[in-house]
Amino acid sequence: MEQSTEKVNSHRVATSDDIEVSTYLEISKEMQGLQAAPKAGEIPHGAKEAVAIIDFGSQYSHLIARRVRECNVYCEIFSYDAPLSKIMAIHPRGFILSGGPASVYEKNAPLTPVGIYDSHLPVLGICYGMQLITLQLGGTVAPGSKHEYGQSILHVSDDSSPLFYELEDSLTVWMSHADEIIDMPAGFRSSAYTENSPNAVITDGSKIFGLQFHPEVAHTPQGKQIIKNFLYRVCGCQGAWTPGNFIHESIAAIKQQVGDGRVICALSGGVDSAVAAKLVHAAIGDQLTCIFVNNGLLRREEPERALETFRKNLKMNVVYVDATDLFLDQLKGVIDPEQKRKSIGREFIKLFENEGKKLGKIDFLAQGTLYPDVIESATPETKAAAKIKTHHNVGGLPSRMTLTLIEPLRYLFKDEVREVGLELGLPEDMVWRQPFPGPGLAIRIIGEVTRERLDILRGADWIVMNEIKKAKLYRQMWQTFAILTDVRSVGVMGDYRTYGYMVALRAVTSQDAMTADWARLPYNLLATISNRIVNEVPGVNRVVYDITSKPPSTIEWE
Ligand code: XMP
Repeated sequence: MEQSTEKVNSHRVATSDDIEVSTYLEISKEMQGLQAAPKAGEIPHGAKEAVAIIDFGSQYSHLIARRVRECNVYCEIFSYDAPLSKIMAIHPRGFILSGGPASVYEKNAPLTPVGIYDSHLPVLGICYGMQLITLQLGGTVAPGSKHEYGQSILHVSDDSSPLFYELEDSLTVWMSHADEIIDMPAGFRSSAYTENSPNAVITDGSKIFGLQFHPEVAHTPQGKQIIKNFLYRVCGCQGAWTPGNFIHESIAAIKQQVGDGRVICALSGGVDSAVAAKLVHAAIGDQLTCIFVNNGLLRREEPERALETFRKNLKMNVVYVDATDLFLDQLKGVIDPEQKRKSIGREFIKLFENEGKKLGKIDFLAQGTLYPDVIESATPETKAAAKIKTHHNVGGLPSRMTLTLIEPLRYLFKDEVREVGLELGLPEDMVWRQPFPGPGLAIRIIGEVTRERLDILRGADWIVMNEIKKAKLYRQMWQTFAILTDVRSVGVMGDYRTYGYMVALRAVTSQDAMTADWARLPYNLLATISNRIVNEVPGVNRVVYDITSKPPSTIEWE
């Protein structure tokens, strides 16, 4: 105790007095705005059950959102400096304040509008969020005498806390903090402690809670239950966010937005554009026309299957354009990965625009943009991937057509999109299709893309898919595919010397493609795939397995 007091005294201890005058002015503006905002119990009838996540720059904010959605509660992430009126527009039942890299006592540390507390709605602060609650409500935070990173054991001292309903008294939790609460705000008490944090969980005994640990990460095994307890037992949510409700609401919204206008949608054969198109089709039927461009870079049987599904099974208007020659001509002699990507993206825009013109007056463009894209584009510093590779995404095109966007999946995560797709009646193999890049097989052929090399890769890829599916691993893997390298090596088949291509196998697990780990596929499965490829695909005499994760590698080779 003494030691920690000494430590505290050696640092400048922050209190709410430290908030700069300018911040106070902003806060007071926000507070004025709050007068019209709903208070607890004043949520308009029929408003969607929602929770607002206030983001302070945590790398885990999207994980908080995922966990909330997994509890069947709708949520949106707002930057800490979003206007309070914007946050209140979703009629939140409560707020979750994320962690963040700053320390609350630093000058210009991000703050949350104090109107959030004045709304009398429940607040759950996580790590930085908890320290912010402490600071903003009159407590004291300082650098901790001991840092806590990694797993800790949390001892629950208050059995009556709703957060720990139906949970054990000792829980494994994941910590990542260097600051600690010295004085809790008046009226607050501690409900749980760890070896190094006497105030690991704090509460006002009513609606405000702070957690020093991260319940959103997998390393806190009971974290989802804690979040669920907050949502259900504190915010009063009932879990109304289901695929069925989402579809119902989206269809009504699309109908209203489109009226008797016309919509086009580019289909890639992937799940996002398929679900977006199906949803729009369910709302406005034949006012939607889809364009499916075969760029000659798709997998074996893929264009035929996609067309059959959309046209025959789903009875949708699909303009099919076989532009294989056009794309392959443009790719002749191109070996630089960025040039390949740019060439394919350029051709696609041209084609899409031309086809669009042929259809006459079009008012809207439907896209399968997902929530991770929206979150990512909101923070320029997370856009590093765009600099590494120029992504070509059928959804992201073309801006100069000046069509109004319809993005029905804008607030969904991939797993939610899949659930919605199934509920809408899309076939399982389409819904569970692994991601496939817009530039297709071109970026899985190292060196020049030719018809002959495309055929080799298609043959190898077909075998990989078949065997992975046969081993019932397809859905567990983020992606599994083959790469045709430009390496040729000597082999022996029968009594003959061969000089053939080397194919690489790539199989990764991932949550969101931002990071990925190479999959520990069983040896016998690797052996079968390798044997089949060298025996069945002419021109290949060697198969290797890529055992690098992302980072430092990327998932695709180009
Ligand atoms: P990388 O290779 O950057 O890929 O680790 C991350 C994820 O994105 C996919 N990918 C693309 N998807 N257009 C797309 O729609 C593209 O240009 C593109 N490039 C890569 C890749 O398959 C992986 O899932």
